[in-house]
Amino acid sequence: MSRIAYVNGRYVPLAKAAVSIDDRAFTFGDGVYEVCEVSGGALIEEGRHLARLGRSLSALSIAWPIGEQALRLVMREIVRLNRVRDGLLYLQISRGAARRDHGFPPEGTKPGLVVVARLLDPAVGAARATAGVAVITLPEQRWARPDIKTLQLLPNVLAKQSAREKSAFEAWFVDRAGFVTEGASTNAWILTPDGALVTRQADEAILHGVTRAALIEFAARLGLRLEERPFTPNEAQSAREAFVSSATTIAMPVVSIDGKAVGDGRPGAVVPSLRQAFRTFSEKSLRPL
Ligand code: PDD
Repeated sequence: MSRIAYVNGRYVPLAKAAVSIDDRAFTFGDGVYEVCEVSGGALIEEGRHLARLGRSLSALSIAWPIGEQALRLVMREIVRLNRVRDGLLYLQISRGAARRDHGFPPEGTKPGLVVVARLLDPAVGAARATAGVAVITLPEQRWARPDIKTLQLLPNVLAKQSAREKSAFEAWFVDRAGFVTEGASTNAWILTPDGALVTRQADEAILHGVTRAALIEFAARLGLRLEERPFTPNEAQSAREAFVSSATTIAMPVVSIDGKAVGDGRPGAVVPSLRQAFRTFSEKSLRPL
């Protein structure tokens, strides 16, 4: 079965999917994106993803390419056409295609919209969560607004590659004050020795993760105490448990940081329970709309 993409109003086979070389996503990275988990054929936390998309668009003064309800329909259709039961949906909006000029394009330039979906084997994530993952730390190198989910991800790309070269799953950025901001594509968390769940406050220094927000809600249901504050790599290395969160990892136990074991070097009990709570309580889209 050939995969189908939605590109600027059309459903097309992936091999035929194309955008203009004048698209500002291509020339300037001038656009935003979302990654939404698909589980059991349902879009997970779609409402929160669309709310964040709206915030990213308005922060960059990019208009919605189509209405929000129409976009929800396109998202469902792409999941259906590609028969994705478990996987992810990627959507990208650019400021549109126009002759290259740094300033905004002429009034009336239509924003570009691309939506694709693909299968992921849930057994891979489950096995990774059972074993736990390694992270490394690196100096923060991004611009001052990582809270906007822009397409400009070069520091994240380089950080992830550095992690891979050290056989680690993720790289945590550390700001000038010595505190962890977040991962290259995940939010960062620890569980302190006295049982408090700690994650950095959702300020301009981090992406306001959808999974992060949902886990905060579900942690409360599990009776966990939450502290939204920065933590250092040192504190993380001495934590009882640590983990990363994102649409594609949910809550993924971190068992080593810069080569130092967290706890006894194996996943603890709390992160798997958060992972389970996410599965149970997360918002699942129903089809059709
Ligand atoms: N990344 N921080 C960064 C820098 C991210 O890129 C992401 C998501 C997150 C977690 O956000 P959420 O819980 O909403 O997925 C945090 C996606 C998955 C990606 O770029 O592939």
